[in-house]
Amino acid sequence: MSAPPWYHPAVAIPLQPIIAPSILSADFARLGEAVRDIDAAGADWIHVDVMDGRFVPNLTIGPLVVEAVRPYTRKPLDCHLMIEEPERYVERFAAAGADVITVHVEACRHLHRNLEQIHALRHWDGGRVRAGVSLNPHTPIESVLHVLPLCDLVLIMSVNPGFGGQAFIPAVVPKLAALRERLSATGSTAHVQIDGGVTDENAEFLAREGADNFVSGSGVFHHKRLGPAEAIAALRAAAAHGMTARTPRS
Ligand code: DX5
Ligand code: ZN
Repeated sequence: MSAPPWYHPAVAIPLQPIIAPSILSADFARLGEAVRDIDAAGADWIHVDVMDGRFVPNLTIGPLVVEAVRPYTRKPLDCHLMIEEPERYVERFAAAGADVITVHVEACRHLHRNLEQIHALRHWDGGRVRAGVSLNPHTPIESVLHVLPLCDLVLIMSVNPGFGGQAFIPAVVPKLAALRERLSATGSTAHVQIDGGVTDENAEFLAREGADNFVSGSGVFHHKRLGPAEAIAALRAAAAHGMTARTPRS
């Protein structure tokens, strides 16, 4: 697999951060406008948190809502499925306009099959649906090592999924470096995404540890000093700084 140009040519390390604001923290009464606004504010991806009230103790968004917001942006809709039996729904999310579909390893009895299923889905715009796997805070990265060739993204959860605005769990941080090392060793260009309690204050550190893809809900929509555009810019600057610090120069 050849790496896209924004990857370091020698070691397949992404050079630019992806900032993915989570619309879980947006105003659901005007979600379309919120997606349009966050796109204009500089979001790279739009993170969509899908919860079923079973895998996590909360209910949020389904394919109908993804379809409703699809016309408000051309940026990737990054659908984080915190649901049991995701294989029953991925086709509907792809048809609704998802670009990235991430499932939880803890919710997949047949993870390899589930990832193959996502890769085989028809993309809404004639591209390809990208497949991600998410790990809860307690889940070791070893649980995904044997499916890494099927992963476009690995999501390291830094809170227990279910709610925005929770405190970052520092115990997950060693997973970032271990995963990054494994991806580099195998030449994988999969994103290392971090989700939960991510702000402009910890993004540099997280980037240095190995993250290149930053989900932030309250850190963008409810920043204590900055508006969403400024918060995205601050996140990007911090993350880029951290990524530069760890990128090999050879
Ligand atoms: C949590 C979700 C997150 C959440 C992050 O279950 O997966 O995407 O929106 O929110 P913050 O950034 O507020 O922790
Ligand atoms: Zn999420």
